[in-house]
Amino acid sequence: MADTKDTVVEGVEALTLNGKAEAEPVETGTDAQAQEGGAAAGAAVEDVVDPWNVASSNDTGVDYDKLIKRFGSSKIDDELIARFEKITGKPAHHLIRRGMFFSHRDLHTILTLKEQGKPFYLYTGRGPSSGSLHVGHLIPFTLTKWLQETFDVPLVIQLTDDEKTLWKDLKVEDAIKLARENAKDIVAMGFDVKKTFIFNNLEFMGKCPAMYQNIIRIQKCVTFNQVKGIFGFGDSDIIGKIGFPAAQAAPAISSTFPFLFGNKKVHCLIPCAIDQDPYFRMTRDVAPRLGFPKCALIHSTFFPALQGAKTKMSASDQNSAVFLTDTPKQIKNKINKYAFSGGRTTVEEHRQLGGVPEIDVSYQLLKFFLQDDAKLEEVRVAYRKGEMLTGEIKKLAVETLTPIVEQHQAARKLITEEVLDKYFELRPLKFAS
Ligand code: TYM
Ligand code: TRP
Repeated sequence: MADTKDTVVEGVEALTLNGKAEAEPVETGTDAQAQEGGAAAGAAVEDVVDPWNVASSNDTGVDYDKLIKRFGSSKIDDELIARFEKITGKPAHHLIRRGMFFSHRDLHTILTLKEQGKPFYLYTGRGPSSGSLHVGHLIPFTLTKWLQETFDVPLVIQLTDDEKTLWKDLKVEDAIKLARENAKDIVAMGFDVKKTFIFNNLEFMGKCPAMYQNIIRIQKCVTFNQVKGIFGFGDSDIIGKIGFPAAQAAPAISSTFPFLFGNKKVHCLIPCAIDQDPYFRMTRDVAPRLGFPKCALIHSTFFPALQGAKTKMSASDQNSAVFLTDTPKQIKNKINKYAFSGGRTTVEEHRQLGGVPEIDVSYQLLKFFLQDDAKLEEVRVAYRKGEMLTGEIKKLAVETLTPIVEQHQAARKLITEEVLDKYFELRPLKFAS
Protein backbone atom coordinates (compact mmCIF):
# COMPACT_ATOMS: atom_id res chain seq x y z
CA MET A 1 0.00 0.00 0.00
CA ALA A 2 2.75 2.38 1.05
CA ASP A 3 4.31 1.78 -2.35
CA THR A 4 1.22 2.81 -4.20
CA LYS A 5 1.00 5.99 -2.20
CA ASP A 6 4.58 6.90 -3.00
CA THR A 7 4.03 6.38 -6.69
CA VAL A 8 0.96 8.57 -6.67
CA VAL A 9 2.78 11.37 -4.90
CA GLU A 10 5.59 11.19 -7.44
CA GLY A 11 3.10 11.37 -10.25
CA VAL A 12 1.47 14.43 -8.79
CA GLU A 13 4.77 16.23 -8.47
CA ALA A 14 5.65 15.49 -12.05
CA LEU A 15 2.32 16.84 -13.20
CA THR A 16 2.68 20.02 -11.21
CA LEU A 17 6.14 20.64 -12.57
CA ASN A 18 4.88 20.09 -16.04
CA GLY A 19 1.92 22.39 -15.45
CA LYS A 20 4.26 25.21 -14.47
CA ALA A 21 6.54 24.65 -17.40
CA GLU A 22 3.67 25.15 -19.76
CA ALA A 23 2.40 28.62 -20.29
CA GLU A 24 0.90 28.15 -23.74
CA PRO A 25 -2.44 26.46 -24.25
CA VAL A 26 -2.63 23.66 -26.81
CA GLU A 27 -3.28 25.42 -30.12
CA THR A 28 -6.63 23.90 -30.73
CA GLY A 29 -7.70 23.24 -27.18
CA THR A 30 -9.28 26.61 -27.51
CA ASP A 31 -11.43 25.37 -30.39
CA ALA A 32 -12.72 22.50 -28.37
CA GLN A 33 -13.33 24.80 -25.43
CA ALA A 34 -15.16 27.25 -27.64
CA GLN A 35 -17.26 24.36 -28.85
CA GLU A 36 -18.15 23.36 -25.30
CA GLY A 37 -18.79 26.92 -24.24
CA GLY A 38 -21.12 27.47 -27.18
CA ALA A 39 -23.25 24.50 -26.25
CA ALA A 40 -23.28 25.38 -22.56
CA ALA A 41 -24.35 28.93 -23.28
CA GLY A 42 -27.34 27.53 -25.13
CA ALA A 43 -26.29 29.18 -28.37
CA ALA A 44 -27.53 27.83 -31.72
CA VAL A 45 -27.56 24.03 -31.51
CA GLU A 46 -24.15 22.92 -32.76
CA ASP A 47 -23.28 19.56 -34.24
CA VAL A 48 -21.45 17.33 -31.79
CA VAL A 49 -18.35 15.68 -33.29
CA ASP A 50 -15.80 14.01 -31.05
CA PRO A 51 -14.17 10.56 -30.94
CA TRP A 52 -17.20 9.13 -29.10
CA ASN A 53 -20.24 10.94 -30.46
CA VAL A 54 -21.53 12.32 -33.70
CA ALA A 55 -24.88 14.08 -33.53
CA SER A 56 -26.54 16.67 -35.71
CA SER A 57 -30.05 18.07 -35.49
CA ASN A 58 -30.14 18.34 -39.27
CA ASP A 59 -31.45 15.65 -41.66
CA THR A 60 -28.57 16.32 -44.04
CA GLY A 61 -26.17 15.58 -41.19
CA VAL A 62 -23.15 17.42 -39.87
CA ASP A 63 -22.39 20.82 -41.41
CA TYR A 64 -18.87 20.02 -42.54
CA ASP A 65 -17.97 23.52 -43.69
CA LYS A 66 -18.74 24.84 -40.22
CA LEU A 67 -16.72 22.01 -38.72
CA ILE A 68 -13.66 23.03 -40.77
CA LYS A 69 -13.92 26.52 -39.28
CA ARG A 70 -14.48 25.25 -35.75
CA PHE A 71 -11.63 22.73 -35.86
CA GLY A 72 -9.33 25.09 -37.77
CA SER A 73 -8.52 22.60 -40.55
CA SER A 74 -8.52 23.40 -44.30
CA LYS A 75 -10.95 22.49 -47.04
CA ILE A 76 -9.84 20.14 -49.81
CA ASP A 77 -10.60 22.45 -52.73
CA ASP A 78 -10.31 22.08 -56.50
CA GLU A 79 -6.87 23.66 -56.50
CA LEU A 80 -5.51 21.11 -54.01
CA ILE A 81 -7.08 18.26 -55.98
CA ALA A 82 -5.49 19.60 -59.19
CA ARG A 83 -2.07 19.75 -57.52
CA PHE A 84 -2.59 16.26 -56.11
CA GLU A 85 -3.42 14.90 -59.59
CA LYS A 86 -0.49 16.70 -61.18
CA ILE A 87 2.03 15.35 -58.69
CA THR A 88 0.70 11.78 -58.59
CA GLY A 89 0.00 11.69 -62.33
CA LYS A 90 -3.39 10.05 -61.89
CA PRO A 91 -6.98 11.06 -61.20
CA ALA A 92 -7.81 11.53 -57.51
CA HIS A 93 -9.72 8.70 -55.80
CA HIS A 94 -13.52 8.99 -56.09
CA LEU A 95 -13.76 9.48 -52.31
CA ILE A 96 -11.66 12.64 -52.77
CA ARG A 97 -13.31 13.77 -56.03
CA ARG A 98 -16.81 13.41 -54.52
CA GLY A 99 -15.90 15.36 -51.41
CA MET A 100 -16.08 12.52 -48.89
CA PHE A 101 -12.51 13.38 -47.96
CA PHE A 102 -13.23 17.03 -47.49
CA SER A 103 -10.72 18.45 -45.03
CA HIS A 104 -6.99 18.30 -44.35
CA ARG A 105 -4.07 19.65 -42.40
CA ASP A 106 -0.75 20.24 -44.20
CA LEU A 107 -1.50 18.04 -47.21
CA HIS A 108 0.50 20.52 -49.30
CA THR A 109 3.60 19.69 -47.24
CA ILE A 110 3.17 15.99 -48.08
CA LEU A 111 2.74 16.77 -51.78
CA THR A 112 5.90 18.87 -51.71
CA LEU A 113 7.80 15.97 -50.09
CA LYS A 114 6.56 13.72 -52.88
CA GLU A 115 7.68 16.28 -55.49
CA GLN A 116 11.12 16.35 -53.92
CA GLY A 117 11.32 12.57 -53.69
CA LYS A 118 11.50 12.70 -49.88
CA PRO A 119 10.01 9.99 -47.67
CA PHE A 120 6.92 10.03 -45.47
CA TYR A 121 4.72 7.32 -43.97
CA LEU A 122 1.02 6.69 -43.49
CA TYR A 123 -0.60 6.04 -40.12
CA THR A 124 -4.18 5.03 -39.43
CA GLY A 125 -6.03 2.88 -36.93
CA ARG A 126 -9.07 1.23 -35.50
CA GLY A 127 -10.51 0.91 -32.00
CA PRO A 128 -11.62 -2.75 -31.72
CA SER A 129 -15.03 -2.31 -30.11
CA SER A 130 -16.75 -5.13 -32.00
CA GLY A 131 -15.76 -8.40 -33.67
CA SER A 132 -16.42 -7.03 -37.11
CA LEU A 133 -15.91 -3.76 -38.94
CA HIS A 134 -18.88 -2.07 -40.58
CA VAL A 135 -18.94 -0.70 -44.12
CA GLY A 136 -18.28 2.86 -42.82
CA HIS A 137 -14.86 1.69 -41.62
CA LEU A 138 -14.00 0.78 -45.20
CA ILE A 139 -13.81 4.49 -46.00
CA PRO A 140 -10.58 5.51 -44.21
CA PHE A 141 -9.00 2.13 -44.94
CA THR A 142 -9.92 2.22 -48.64
CA LEU A 143 -8.32 5.62 -49.05
CA THR A 144 -5.30 4.57 -46.99
CA LYS A 145 -4.72 1.63 -49.32
CA TRP A 146 -5.03 3.83 -52.37
CA LEU A 147 -2.62 6.39 -50.89
CA GLN A 148 -0.15 3.63 -50.08
CA GLU A 149 -0.27 2.37 -53.65
CA THR A 150 -0.15 5.86 -55.13
CA PHE A 151 2.80 7.09 -53.07
CA ASP A 152 4.55 3.76 -52.44
CA VAL A 153 5.15 4.47 -48.76
CA PRO A 154 5.15 2.44 -45.54
CA LEU A 155 1.98 2.23 -43.47
CA VAL A 156 1.46 1.62 -39.76
CA ILE A 157 -1.96 0.60 -38.44
CA GLN A 158 -2.70 0.97 -34.74
CA LEU A 159 -5.36 -1.13 -33.02
CA THR A 160 -6.28 0.63 -29.80
CA ASP A 161 -7.38 -2.35 -27.71
CA ASP A 162 -6.20 -0.36 -24.66
CA GLU A 163 -8.63 2.44 -25.54
CA LYS A 164 -11.60 0.09 -25.89
CA THR A 165 -10.76 -1.64 -22.59
CA LEU A 166 -10.80 1.74 -20.88
CA TRP A 167 -13.97 3.04 -22.54
CA LYS A 168 -16.11 -0.08 -22.85
CA ASP A 169 -17.16 -2.93 -20.61
CA LEU A 170 -14.37 -5.03 -22.06
CA LYS A 171 -11.63 -7.13 -20.42
CA VAL A 172 -8.01 -6.71 -21.51
CA GLU A 173 -7.96 -10.30 -22.82
CA ASP A 174 -11.14 -9.81 -24.84
CA ALA A 175 -10.01 -6.50 -26.33
CA ILE A 176 -6.83 -8.21 -27.54
CA LYS A 177 -8.95 -10.90 -29.22
CA LEU A 178 -11.14 -8.30 -30.92
CA ALA A 179 -8.04 -6.47 -32.15
CA ARG A 180 -6.88 -9.64 -33.87
CA GLU A 181 -10.28 -10.26 -35.42
CA ASN A 182 -10.39 -6.68 -36.70
CA ALA A 183 -6.90 -7.05 -38.12
CA LYS A 184 -8.20 -9.89 -40.31
CA ASP A 185 -10.79 -7.54 -41.80
CA ILE A 186 -8.10 -4.94 -42.41
CA VAL A 187 -5.65 -7.39 -43.98
CA ALA A 188 -8.47 -8.75 -46.18
CA MET A 189 -8.64 -5.34 -47.83
CA GLY A 190 -5.39 -6.25 -49.54
CA PHE A 191 -2.67 -4.24 -47.80
CA ASP A 192 0.81 -5.18 -49.04
CA VAL A 193 2.59 -7.08 -46.24
CA LYS A 194 5.98 -5.75 -47.38
CA LYS A 195 4.86 -2.20 -46.70
CA THR A 196 2.39 -2.57 -43.81
CA PHE A 197 2.93 -2.97 -40.08
CA ILE A 198 -0.08 -3.66 -37.83
CA PHE A 199 0.10 -3.53 -34.04
CA ASN A 200 -2.21 -3.62 -31.04
CA ASN A 201 -1.17 -1.36 -28.17
CA LEU A 202 -1.73 -3.91 -25.39
CA GLU A 203 0.92 -6.22 -26.84
CA PHE A 204 3.16 -3.95 -28.91
CA MET A 205 4.17 -1.65 -26.08
CA GLY A 206 5.87 -4.50 -24.24
CA LYS A 207 7.89 -5.35 -27.34
CA CYS A 208 8.89 -1.83 -28.24
CA PRO A 209 10.22 0.34 -25.39
CA ALA A 210 10.53 3.26 -27.83
CA MET A 211 6.75 3.57 -27.97
CA TYR A 212 6.32 3.77 -24.22
CA GLN A 213 9.18 6.26 -24.03
CA ASN A 214 7.46 8.50 -26.58
CA ILE A 215 4.15 8.20 -24.72
CA ILE A 216 5.86 9.49 -21.59
CA ARG A 217 7.50 12.34 -23.54
CA ILE A 218 4.09 13.30 -24.90
CA GLN A 219 2.35 12.99 -21.53
CA LYS A 220 4.95 15.33 -20.10
CA CYS A 221 3.87 18.04 -22.55
CA VAL A 222 0.11 18.02 -21.92
CA THR A 223 -1.70 19.13 -18.77
CA PHE A 224 -5.02 17.84 -17.40
CA ASN A 225 -6.55 21.19 -18.25
CA GLN A 226 -5.57 20.76 -21.86
CA VAL A 227 -7.00 17.25 -22.27
CA LYS A 228 -10.13 18.45 -20.47
CA GLY A 229 -10.43 21.20 -23.07
CA ILE A 230 -9.80 18.92 -26.00
CA PHE A 231 -11.67 15.77 -24.96
CA GLY A 232 -14.06 16.96 -22.25
CA PHE A 233 -12.71 14.64 -19.53
CA GLY A 234 -13.99 15.31 -16.02
CA ASP A 235 -12.84 14.79 -12.45
CA SER A 236 -14.50 11.39 -12.15
CA ASP A 237 -13.12 9.92 -15.36
CA ILE A 238 -10.72 7.04 -14.75
CA ILE A 239 -7.07 8.05 -15.08
CA GLY A 240 -6.50 5.65 -17.98
CA LYS A 241 -8.70 7.78 -20.21
CA ILE A 242 -6.80 10.91 -19.32
CA GLY A 243 -3.48 9.38 -20.30
CA PHE A 244 -4.70 7.49 -23.37
CA PRO A 245 -4.51 10.26 -26.00
CA ALA A 246 -0.71 10.02 -25.83
CA ALA A 247 -0.96 6.39 -27.01
CA GLN A 248 -2.84 7.46 -30.12
CA ALA A 249 -0.42 10.35 -30.66
CA ALA A 250 2.81 8.34 -30.38
CA PRO A 251 2.61 6.53 -33.77
CA ALA A 252 2.63 9.95 -35.47
CA ILE A 253 6.21 10.39 -34.17
CA SER A 254 8.53 8.29 -36.35
CA SER A 255 10.94 7.34 -33.52
CA THR A 256 8.12 5.19 -32.06
CA PHE A 257 9.15 2.63 -34.70
CA PRO A 258 12.97 2.30 -34.53
CA PHE A 259 12.82 -0.93 -36.58
CA LEU A 260 11.17 1.04 -39.42
CA PHE A 261 12.81 4.44 -39.34
CA GLY A 262 15.88 4.20 -37.10
CA ASN A 263 16.17 7.63 -35.54
CA LYS A 264 15.14 9.49 -38.72
CA LYS A 265 12.53 12.20 -38.33
CA VAL A 266 10.04 11.15 -40.98
CA HIS A 267 6.85 13.05 -41.85
CA CYS A 268 3.55 11.30 -41.32
CA LEU A 269 0.15 11.51 -43.05
CA ILE A 270 -2.96 10.28 -41.22
CA PRO A 271 -6.16 9.35 -43.06
CA CYS A 272 -9.14 9.18 -40.66
CA ALA A 273 -12.71 10.37 -40.27
CA ILE A 274 -12.93 13.85 -38.75
CA ASP A 275 -14.02 12.50 -35.32
CA GLN A 276 -10.39 11.53 -34.66
CA ASP A 277 -9.07 15.05 -35.22
CA PRO A 278 -8.95 16.02 -31.50
CA TYR A 279 -6.22 13.43 -30.91
CA PHE A 280 -4.14 14.85 -33.68
CA ARG A 281 -4.64 18.50 -32.78
CA MET A 282 -2.99 17.54 -29.53
CA THR A 283 -0.29 15.57 -31.40
CA ARG A 284 0.46 18.50 -33.71
CA ASP A 285 0.93 20.77 -30.73
CA VAL A 286 3.36 18.41 -29.02
CA ALA A 287 5.44 17.09 -31.97
CA PRO A 288 7.55 20.21 -32.62
CA ARG A 289 8.34 20.43 -28.91
CA LEU A 290 9.84 16.94 -29.19
CA GLY A 291 11.75 17.98 -32.30
CA PHE A 292 9.50 16.17 -34.82
CA PRO A 293 7.41 17.45 -37.73
CA LYS A 294 3.68 17.96 -37.22
CA CYS A 295 1.60 15.12 -38.67
CA ALA A 296 -0.48 15.91 -41.76
CA LEU A 297 -4.10 14.74 -41.94
CA ILE A 298 -6.74 13.93 -44.51
CA HIS A 299 -10.26 13.81 -43.01
CA SER A 300 -13.39 12.05 -44.22
CA THR A 301 -17.04 12.75 -43.52
CA PHE A 302 -19.03 10.02 -41.76
CA PHE A 303 -20.95 7.31 -43.38
CA PRO A 304 -24.42 7.95 -41.91
CA ALA A 305 -26.30 5.53 -39.66
CA LEU A 306 -28.92 3.60 -41.67
CA GLN A 307 -31.50 5.61 -39.71
CA GLY A 308 -30.20 8.85 -41.23
CA ALA A 309 -27.38 11.36 -41.23
CA LYS A 310 -28.15 12.82 -37.79
CA THR A 311 -25.60 10.36 -36.50
CA LYS A 312 -22.82 8.12 -37.86
CA MET A 313 -22.87 4.44 -38.63
CA SER A 314 -21.53 2.89 -35.44
CA ALA A 315 -20.34 -0.58 -34.48
CA SER A 316 -21.90 -0.09 -31.03
CA ASP A 317 -25.41 0.06 -32.54
CA GLN A 318 -26.23 -3.17 -34.42
CA ASN A 319 -29.11 -1.77 -36.46
CA SER A 320 -27.28 1.41 -37.46
CA ALA A 321 -24.73 -0.46 -39.53
CA VAL A 322 -24.12 -2.97 -42.28
CA PHE A 323 -21.32 -5.17 -40.96
CA LEU A 324 -18.72 -6.89 -43.07
CA THR A 325 -20.01 -10.19 -41.60
CA ASP A 326 -23.64 -9.63 -42.69
CA THR A 327 -25.21 -12.13 -45.10
CA PRO A 328 -26.80 -10.96 -48.37
CA LYS A 329 -30.20 -11.50 -46.73
CA GLN A 330 -29.29 -9.38 -43.71
CA ILE A 331 -27.98 -6.60 -45.97
CA LYS A 332 -31.19 -6.61 -47.97
CA ASN A 333 -33.38 -6.64 -44.86
CA LYS A 334 -31.42 -3.91 -43.09
CA ILE A 335 -31.47 -1.57 -46.06
CA ASN A 336 -35.12 -2.21 -46.83
CA LYS A 337 -36.18 -1.85 -43.22
CA TYR A 338 -33.91 0.87 -41.84
CA ALA A 339 -32.25 2.88 -44.61
CA PHE A 340 -33.67 6.37 -44.15
CA SER A 341 -35.52 7.45 -47.27
CA GLY A 342 -35.50 10.82 -48.95
CA GLY A 343 -38.59 9.75 -50.87
CA ARG A 344 -42.15 11.05 -50.46
CA THR A 345 -44.98 9.35 -48.59
CA THR A 346 -46.96 8.24 -51.64
CA VAL A 347 -45.90 7.27 -55.15
CA GLU A 348 -48.03 10.08 -56.62
CA GLU A 349 -46.38 12.66 -54.43
CA HIS A 350 -42.94 11.24 -55.19
CA ARG A 351 -43.54 11.36 -58.97
CA GLN A 352 -44.75 14.93 -58.63
CA LEU A 353 -42.23 16.41 -56.17
CA GLY A 354 -39.24 14.10 -56.60
CA GLY A 355 -36.99 12.65 -53.87
CA VAL A 356 -34.23 14.26 -51.83
CA PRO A 357 -30.95 12.38 -52.49
CA GLU A 358 -29.00 14.48 -49.93
CA ILE A 359 -30.87 12.88 -47.01
CA ASP A 360 -31.45 9.47 -48.58
CA VAL A 361 -29.18 6.87 -46.99
CA SER A 362 -29.37 4.51 -49.99
CA TYR A 363 -28.15 7.33 -52.21
CA GLN A 364 -25.35 8.04 -49.73
CA LEU A 365 -24.37 4.35 -49.89
CA LEU A 366 -24.12 4.67 -53.66
CA LYS A 367 -22.08 7.84 -53.36
CA PHE A 368 -19.51 6.00 -51.26
CA PHE A 369 -19.56 2.63 -53.02
CA LEU A 370 -20.69 3.05 -56.64
CA GLN A 371 -17.53 3.77 -58.62
CA ASP A 372 -19.18 4.73 -61.92
CA ASP A 373 -19.55 8.55 -61.90
CA ALA A 374 -21.97 8.64 -64.85
CA LYS A 375 -24.29 6.02 -63.34
CA LEU A 376 -24.30 7.83 -59.99
CA GLU A 377 -25.26 11.12 -61.62
CA GLU A 378 -28.02 9.36 -63.59
CA VAL A 379 -29.43 7.98 -60.34
CA ARG A 380 -29.25 11.35 -58.61
CA VAL A 381 -31.12 13.11 -61.40
CA ALA A 382 -33.75 10.38 -61.77
CA TYR A 383 -34.38 10.24 -58.02
CA ARG A 384 -34.52 14.00 -57.70
CA LYS A 385 -37.08 14.17 -60.57
CA GLY A 386 -39.20 11.43 -59.07
CA GLU A 387 -38.56 9.10 -62.00
CA MET A 388 -36.81 6.69 -59.66
CA LEU A 389 -38.69 5.43 -56.60
CA THR A 390 -37.42 4.64 -53.09
CA GLY A 391 -37.81 0.89 -53.66
CA GLU A 392 -35.69 1.18 -56.78
CA ILE A 393 -32.86 3.14 -55.19
CA LYS A 394 -32.83 0.72 -52.23
CA LYS A 395 -32.60 -2.20 -54.65
CA LEU A 396 -29.63 -0.59 -56.40
CA ALA A 397 -27.95 0.09 -53.03
CA VAL A 398 -28.39 -3.58 -52.06
CA GLU A 399 -27.06 -4.73 -55.44
CA THR A 400 -24.02 -2.45 -55.13
CA LEU A 401 -23.13 -3.28 -51.55
CA THR A 402 -23.76 -7.04 -51.48
CA PRO A 403 -20.94 -8.08 -53.85
CA ILE A 404 -18.51 -5.75 -52.04
CA VAL A 405 -19.30 -7.45 -48.72
CA GLU A 406 -19.26 -10.93 -50.30
CA GLN A 407 -15.86 -10.35 -51.88
CA HIS A 408 -14.59 -9.09 -48.56
CA GLN A 409 -15.81 -12.22 -46.78
CA ALA A 410 -14.13 -14.45 -49.36
CA ALA A 411 -10.84 -12.55 -48.94
CA ARG A 412 -11.11 -12.73 -45.14
CA LYS A 413 -11.48 -16.51 -45.23
CA LEU A 414 -7.99 -16.72 -46.71
CA ILE A 415 -6.40 -14.83 -43.81
CA THR A 416 -4.95 -17.56 -41.60
CA GLU A 417 -3.23 -16.90 -38.27
CA GLU A 418 0.13 -17.31 -40.06
CA VAL A 419 -0.74 -14.73 -42.70
CA LEU A 420 -1.85 -12.34 -39.95
CA ASP A 421 1.29 -12.87 -37.85
CA LYS A 422 3.44 -11.57 -40.70
CA TYR A 423 1.80 -8.13 -40.51
CA PHE A 424 2.40 -7.97 -36.74
CA GLU A 425 6.11 -8.91 -36.98
CA LEU A 426 8.54 -6.15 -35.95
CA ARG A 427 10.62 -5.87 -39.12
CA PRO A 428 11.87 -3.30 -41.63
CA LEU A 429 9.40 -2.38 -44.39
CA LYS A 430 10.23 -1.90 -48.06
CA PHE A 431 10.09 1.63 -49.31
CA ALA A 432 11.84 3.74 -51.89
CA SER A 433 14.05 5.98 -49.76
P1 TYM B 1 -12.67 3.57 -34.89
O1 TYM B 1 -12.43 2.15 -34.70
O2 TYM B 1 -13.85 4.16 -34.21
O3 TYM B 1 -12.78 3.87 -36.42
C1 TYM B 1 -11.73 3.52 -37.32
C2 TYM B 1 -11.69 4.54 -38.43
O4 TYM B 1 -12.96 4.59 -39.10
C3 TYM B 1 -13.51 5.89 -39.02
N1 TYM B 1 -14.98 5.76 -38.92
C4 TYM B 1 -15.82 6.12 -39.88
N2 TYM B 1 -15.61 6.66 -41.09
C5 TYM B 1 -16.68 6.96 -41.84
N3 TYM B 1 -17.96 6.72 -41.45
C6 TYM B 1 -18.24 6.17 -40.26
N4 TYM B 1 -19.51 5.94 -39.90
C7 TYM B 1 -17.14 5.83 -39.40
N5 TYM B 1 -17.03 5.28 -38.16
C8 TYM B 1 -15.70 5.25 -37.89
C9 TYM B 1 -12.82 6.53 -37.81
O5 TYM B 1 -12.77 7.92 -37.84
C10 TYM B 1 -11.42 5.97 -37.92
O6 TYM B 1 -10.68 6.67 -38.89
N6 TYM B 1 -9.18 5.67 -31.80
C11 TYM B 1 -9.41 5.21 -33.16
C12 TYM B 1 -8.29 4.29 -33.55
C13 TYM B 1 -7.04 5.01 -33.99
C14 TYM B 1 -6.89 5.82 -35.12
C15 TYM B 1 -5.55 6.26 -35.14
C16 TYM B 1 -7.76 6.23 -36.14
C17 TYM B 1 -5.83 4.98 -33.39
N7 TYM B 1 -4.92 5.72 -34.08
C18 TYM B 1 -5.06 7.08 -36.19
C19 TYM B 1 -7.27 7.05 -37.18
C20 TYM B 1 -5.95 7.48 -37.16
C21 TYM B 1 -10.77 4.45 -33.28
O7 TYM B 1 -11.26 3.89 -32.31
O8 TYM B 1 -11.35 4.37 -34.55
N1 TRP C 1 -9.58 6.16 -31.35
C1 TRP C 1 -10.23 5.49 -32.45
C2 TRP C 1 -11.68 5.14 -32.00
O1 TRP C 1 -11.99 4.79 -30.87
C3 TRP C 1 -9.36 4.26 -32.96
C4 TRP C 1 -7.98 4.65 -33.60
C5 TRP C 1 -6.73 4.39 -33.06
C6 TRP C 1 -7.75 5.29 -34.83
N2 TRP C 1 -5.75 4.87 -33.89
C7 TRP C 1 -6.33 5.42 -34.98
C8 TRP C 1 -8.58 5.78 -35.83
C9 TRP C 1 -5.74 6.04 -36.09
C10 TRP C 1 -8.00 6.38 -36.94
C11 TRP C 1 -6.59 6.54 -37.05
O2 TRP C 1 -12.55 5.27 -32.79
